[in-house]
Amino acid sequence: MKIFDYDVIIIGAGLTGERAAVAAHEDGSSVAIISLVQPRQSHSNAAQGGIQCSLDNMGEQSAGDDWKLHFDDTVRGSDWGADQDVVEQVTRAAPRLIREMEYFGCPFNRTSDGKIEQRNFGGTSVWRAAFAADFTGHALLYAIDQEVMRKGIEIFWRVQVISLILNGDRVIGCVAMDLRTGELIAFHAGSTILATGGSGKLYSESTNAIICRGDGQFLAYNTGKVPLGNMEAVQFHPTGMYPVWILLTEGCRGDGGVLRNKDHHEFMWDYASAKGNLASRDVVSRGMISEIRAGRGIEGDFGPHIWLDLTHLGRDKIISRLRDVHDIARDFAGIDVVTEMAPVKPVQHFMMGGVRIDIDCRARGVEGLYAGGECACWDMHGFNRLGGNSMLETIASGYFSGTTAAKDASGRTSGAGDLAAIHDEVKKQDEIIEELHRHDPEQNSFALHEEMAVLMTENVGIFRTGELLEAAVEQLLDIRARADRIGLTHKVRGRSLELEMALRIPYMVELALTIAQGALKRTESRGGHYREDYPARNDDEWLNRTLAYKQEGDPLPRLEYEEVVLTHLPPGDRGYGEKAPPPAKDK
Ligand code: FUM
Repeated sequence: MKIFDYDVIIIGAGLTGERAAVAAHEDGSSVAIISLVQPRQSHSNAAQGGIQCSLDNMGEQSAGDDWKLHFDDTVRGSDWGADQDVVEQVTRAAPRLIREMEYFGCPFNRTSDGKIEQRNFGGTSVWRAAFAADFTGHALLYAIDQEVMRKGIEIFWRVQVISLILNGDRVIGCVAMDLRTGELIAFHAGSTILATGGSGKLYSESTNAIICRGDGQFLAYNTGKVPLGNMEAVQFHPTGMYPVWILLTEGCRGDGGVLRNKDHHEFMWDYASAKGNLASRDVVSRGMISEIRAGRGIEGDFGPHIWLDLTHLGRDKIISRLRDVHDIARDFAGIDVVTEMAPVKPVQHFMMGGVRIDIDCRARGVEGLYAGGECACWDMHGFNRLGGNSMLETIASGYFSGTTAAKDASGRTSGAGDLAAIHDEVKKQDEIIEELHRHDPEQNSFALHEEMAVLMTENVGIFRTGELLEAAVEQLLDIRARADRIGLTHKVRGRSLELEMALRIPYMVELALTIAQGALKRTESRGGHYREDYPARNDDEWLNRTLAYKQEGDPLPRLEYEEVVLTHLPPGDRGYGEKAPPPAKDK
């Protein structure tokens, strides 16, 4: 068996992982990145509209912007679910981190006087999102990947990490499967960083790529020691392009696009009188679904949708600033957004919850483990993330996790028993794979995935009720029980998509259970978690964060709650002029 040894290993090669690798390398650590895909295929590549930072480059449109205004917008956006010390750390660091990315080669759009241009985005009080047309994630990822290559950082790709290795309470590396050969390999490390992105594929309607399956969240959860924070806080992006659910960026509305119902009425002002189309995503998504429920959606072969209208923007603006949107609508829906409205619907987009880490990105409950980006919860976003704050978080948590992990690793030596722990974990994983080969396929992992993902979309979506959530938990428990009867048709050890999926399904269902159970128990509405049976935010009882722990022998998590950190901004009104959605009986 191959055992590789590094000071710092990073699982995931998107913006967070690669920024962490650069930081750890600069601090003198030996570093390797492990990734499912070639780094430039990571899901960060799909991020479109912009990255938030208070540069104040836009004259009147960004006048007075500073970290404090960015902080206020972020906390209001989070519906007071965020830890304010973390928000302060990130919003203060943002301008430096963005200029660094420019230095690494990111080609941001420019103002006429040569500054980084910024556009309007949802839930912000000024124009703050720096951007590279509508392929900002692509531009950032290529820039940081170039830096990783320049530094000669090693990358193992087409490799799936299947478990963390623990020696007592210390994470000392991971076991992975080479997806080209099926071979198991081990990584031994002083520090292990999780940077695996989100878990959108728990839902059937999502903007996320096929690789967004919650690997990092489960790796940490499965230790039984590390809690997941606020898993019920799921973001639904208003403009998933119907019916393929590819993102059409919020930058469309930032640049002047509007949402219309079947009567072509620009309805968002009826739901958020102060911000209209640019209220926060949870508010806009609820407005859109309320219109559909009221019979004002547009009927289509895949159910009702809403229109996104860019036709008044003109060809030049669309082609120069929203070129990917133009091409995606043309190629996947046969629509020319210059002259026609695009069909859209809110779909799962982002997980605010994830591996609970502290302000320096150290995972709670163990030593040697760190996390950053969407797979983590440190907690910058609370119950609703603002658009453009995720790209900022990738870069910021990449920088902080890489720096902390490198510093901690430099003081670590191999522990007694590390080698034995590595061999034990590899043996355990090998036995799990052997067992899958021995089983006949009574249950098909692809079918179980589909069943779970549709259930999550239908029962654990934008509008939630106790009844829907109870039914979801019950059905997820049933799917989890059936997942123990997954077997493989292809019985030969080696490269196998069927095996990849079979290993994942049990844990994906357990992650889904942390979301559904967390949502069931949280009897209030806050940000993206909206309970029709408890429509008000309840700060007296629920100004806190859910922590979900894996229980031995029970697929349901044990839930605990902890206070959120409030430093500057006490709970109040979010400032969108939000009107509560109509009660369910009127829908
Ligand atoms: O709409 C968008 O461009 C998405 C950005 C984000 O999720 O931050």
